[in-house]
Amino acid sequence: MEDVSLAAERFTEGPVSDATGPSGPLASFAKRSGKVGNPEKTMRIGCPREIKNQEYRVGITPAAAREAAGRGHDVLIESGAGAGAGFPDAAYEAAGARVLATAEDVFAQAEMVVKVKEPQPVERARLREGQILFTYLHLAPDPDQTRDLLGSGVTAIAYETVTDRSGGLPLLAPMSEVAGRLAPQVGAWTLQKANGGRGVLMGGVPGVGPAKVAVIGGGVVGAQAAVIASGMGADVTVLDLSLPRLRHLDDVFGERFRTRYASKDNTEELVAEADMVIGAVLIPGAAAPKLVSRAQLSTMKPGAAIVDVAIDQGGCFETSKPTTHDDPVYEVDGIMHYCVANMPGAVARTATIALGNATMPFMLALADKGWRKACGDDPHLMAGLNTHAGHLTYAAVGKALGIETVEPREAAGM
Ligand SMILES: NC(=O)c1ccc[n+]([C@@H]2O[C@H](COP(=O)([O-])OP(=O)(O)OC[C@H]3O[C@@H](n4cnc5c(N)ncnc54)[C@H](O)[C@@H]3O)[C@@H](O)[C@H]2O)c1
Repeated sequence: MEDVSLAAERFTEGPVSDATGPSGPLASFAKRSGKVGNPEKTMRIGCPREIKNQEYRVGITPAAAREAAGRGHDVLIESGAGAGAGFPDAAYEAAGARVLATAEDVFAQAEMVVKVKEPQPVERARLREGQILFTYLHLAPDPDQTRDLLGSGVTAIAYETVTDRSGGLPLLAPMSEVAGRLAPQVGAWTLQKANGGRGVLMGGVPGVGPAKVAVIGGGVVGAQAAVIASGMGADVTVLDLSLPRLRHLDDVFGERFRTRYASKDNTEELVAEADMVIGAVLIPGAAAPKLVSRAQLSTMKPGAAIVDVAIDQGGCFETSKPTTHDDPVYEVDGIMHYCVANMPGAVARTATIALGNATMPFMLALADKGWRKACGDDPHLMAGLNTHAGHLTYAAVGKALGIETVEPREAAGM
């Protein structure tokens, strides 16, 4: 049952900065658009252009804007926000969104701000109590951002901590899928002679064997990397420490690639034989373990390629250091290293659509019901709550930063 007082409170939270509220032009827009959903309330949902260096994704696709507008919500897009992902302003207008000239306008008018990357300092200064922020945050290593979000009072729901029934992270998985599928593609480029590589073709040719690819870690990234590398004709082996995971991969993918237990022996052997090694391990909440030492590089084939997808958690090769799309590859002891920390940025359009598909149902629930009821109805969305009204509500972040936390339901007044 909807708590009417809470729903009412949602509409008294935060300043109403113009006349587009539920009883203003928005209501008539909803009528005009023949809304298809049945939201309990309508909301102004804002999406600014991403300003972090080399970030071309956008938080709301025209498809998501159409769904939200069709349910009567007022979708506000900063002019040019979708350009990097190939979505012009006109596509948003055709979807029923309004295009605003500046980020200031979007932040000032939106009851919920939907983004991709964590808010940058200039964006954090625009957030306010009563406003919802729905985006990637990664607060644990970021005390400055955490302090600013708490100071603003914003209700911040982090993509990366929303959960699902099977214990997965549904708003992280699409980016792991993108990075995993991209890894053999960039690795194949790195293997080309002109790029410093060994000059080996992934699929070989009749009479010449294929490249050997070792994938360390068989989770979302590793499985997708193995699928693409084997599709390119390479000889692929996936290493993992989890036998249930290896069984699952074997059941699902059968003959497409082999699996091996990730003992030191097996890892050393496969790394030494490989033309390409893809690092795809994750220990949740911890830095990636260093599984290949600098000394081991001397056992590898000269010009072999390392693609360390786990670089965003510190990388699983001792010699890994983060690189950018501008200058993605460097060489250590004759081995080429590709260590881009935001790989999905290279394929911003695919990544935007993949992220939008995953975030849209949550965004619509937040808009339709208000955050309290949406989170109250769905513990997996509640798991995304990181800050509310100056309280930190995510225990792991509190532990990492030494800040006291409040239970999410308590902070929400439930
Ligand atoms: N660089 C990028 O742009 C980018 C993008 C997306 C994800 N990532 C990163 O890729 C990594 C993998 O993400 P994921 O979504 O596949 O995680 P996941 O949890 O789905 O899979 C990780 C796998 O690693 C295995 N593992 C853990 N320790 C191991 C070890 N010592 N040896 C072998 N296997 C081990 C686990 O059993 C698990 O199967 C993470 O660090 C993630 O942050 C990076």
